[in-house]
Amino acid sequence: MSDIIIAGTTCQGIAREVADETKTKLGQLTVKKFPDGELYVRIESDVRGKDCVVIQSTQNPHGRNLIELFLLIDTLKELGAKRIKTIVPFFGYGRQDKSFNPGEAVTSKTVAKHIEIGSDEFYSINLHKDRILDFFNVPAKNLDASPVLGEYFKTYDMKSPVVIGPDRGAIDMAKSVAGILGGTADYLKKKRLGPGEVEMKPKTLSVKDKDVILVDDIIDSGGTMLMAGEMLKSQGALNVMVGCIHPVLTTNIVTKLFAAGAADVVATNTIPSQISFITVSSLIADAIKE
Ligand code: R5P
Repeated sequence: MSDIIIAGTTCQGIAREVADETKTKLGQLTVKKFPDGELYVRIESDVRGKDCVVIQSTQNPHGRNLIELFLLIDTLKELGAKRIKTIVPFFGYGRQDKSFNPGEAVTSKTVAKHIEIGSDEFYSINLHKDRILDFFNVPAKNLDASPVLGEYFKTYDMKSPVVIGPDRGAIDMAKSVAGILGGTADYLKKKRLGPGEVEMKPKTLSVKDKDVILVDDIIDSGGTMLMAGEMLKSQGALNVMVGCIHPVLTTNIVTKLFAAGAADVVATNTIPSQISFITVSSLIADAIKE
């Protein structure tokens, strides 16, 4: 059990829920900006000798949110915290988990290095790649929010839905959601042409007159989901619903998905957004109770 939860500005809602679920105190702190934009962080609660949990996602503005995370961890350390569990529900800079071309920065490794300096344990949710965990020299765990996504879609009471990942990488998520719903799982073939540009190769799927749920870890530009949804509709899918873990949403894709006929578009609250209706707080609460 932990003594105190420190909520970063990106995770105020999650932190409050986790504090309620685990009956843990929520720490008092101030985070504000100096006139020139630099961050000011002050932890007002007494954390000396305490087991502390920091919760902060690092989505856009990535630099600002990362600096806040580093300042929170470091300040807890300076104030004499006994142990620090760092929870980063959405891990920004996760794309570059290796040098794809010589000389490229391995951004996720750099971020991991800075987090682990002050952390005793690290948790994230549906990391872009599991191998990011290897960059940590402290115990690190990747929690899976797909069952939470599955539980949400249960409320629709669908008969044998088909759960589809837009690429092979999403098949485990599709299987997990399908398992909860008593449906079947499959994936589409996708070729990435450039940032936000995707070519979907048709694959024979039995979606005719079926309820279809499209699931992925991230909706960024949304090009992937839009193309997949349109293709499935054209193959005779009855209803197409869209779910993801991390709603990065760099465009007005939610409007576009509904305009294209999506029956629902939903995400978890690892990143706050207009579709973050599913909370990951129980997942985090269970993990930190261990
Ligand atoms: C790719 O590996 C990810 O799983 C997502 O499919 C991708 O990030 C989605 O990107 P976008 O929404 O820009 O198509």
